[in-house]
Amino acid sequence: SNEPAASETAGGEQLATNTGCDAGEQVIKFSHVTNTDKHPKGIAANLLQERINTEMNGRMCMEVYPNSMLYDDDKVLEAMLLGDVQMAAPSLSKFENYTTKLRLFNFPFLFDDIDAVDRFQASPSGQALLSSMTGKGLQGLAFWHSGMKQLSADRPLLVPADARGLKFRVENSDVLVAVFDQLGANPQKMSFSEVYGALQTGVVDGQENSWSNIYGQKFYEVQDGITNTDHGVLDYMVVTSSRWWDGLKEEDRRDLTRILSEVTAERNQAVNQLEQEAREAIAATGAEIRELTPEQREQWVNALRPVWQKFTPDVGAETLKAAQAANQ
Ligand code: LMR
Repeated sequence: SNEPAASETAGGEQLATNTGCDAGEQVIKFSHVTNTDKHPKGIAANLLQERINTEMNGRMCMEVYPNSMLYDDDKVLEAMLLGDVQMAAPSLSKFENYTTKLRLFNFPFLFDDIDAVDRFQASPSGQALLSSMTGKGLQGLAFWHSGMKQLSADRPLLVPADARGLKFRVENSDVLVAVFDQLGANPQKMSFSEVYGALQTGVVDGQENSWSNIYGQKFYEVQDGITNTDHGVLDYMVVTSSRWWDGLKEEDRRDLTRILSEVTAERNQAVNQLEQEAREAIAATGAEIRELTPEQREQWVNALRPVWQKFTPDVGAETLKAAQAANQ
């Protein structure tokens, strides 16, 4: 079947894109946590669904469940290993229980921009990371980009000392905990769906995320402006269970691989534009966007550099070198 049957909220936001799979079609449930409208992951997942359901009609059928409606990122990988969901694209910070190699992506100020991330991921060291969790039953299929991370709180943040003593929501990554510890702040791991409420009620004071997530989740509404720090990256791994993947018919696996790689190339090259649009949309609401002077930025870089040493043994010195070399 390939007729879309999405349900919509009053705001027009797509909630589910359950296509009504036909009998005999193998169902691929794809669970993720972001919105679908103007979001890099939301758009890529929907495009993947559309293409699979057209080009593999009668054989395979994808159902995308966005907005944490099926699982949040802390649960989706367990569900995948149990066979309850077949694909997801969690951020690279959410694989802590399966490998420490992906901690590389959370090193502060490691990558200059998403193009550098792309070059590293395309290198042999980057591609090897897709198979870093096969021993745990997870197979990485592709990297999907989101954007550089920006920083915000309920007060202006211009120098590292401004973050001292504040509570920050972080993704489920020990590197991110170390980053905010290093600033003298109080990091708190929390799932994505809980962040807006936590900022609103003061359970946490601040957060870090891509422009598209800050826009899509409306974090700017409950923060005192956003500081353009580009201090880290938010990127995703499209992942499946090795057991499910190895059990596919040869022809189905080949077609899925080709469609996924075409969708990945198409959407990854559009991502910088999408992030820029999210930034402009935030500014258009009247929310304050703060720029750092070169001297202020240097203070953040220096304050956070000790975090690298702590986690280099986890990621490997060679891999770290390859990542640095991707900044041309
Ligand atoms: C987050 O938890 O902040 C992000 O990983 C959410 C996402 O998938 O973009």
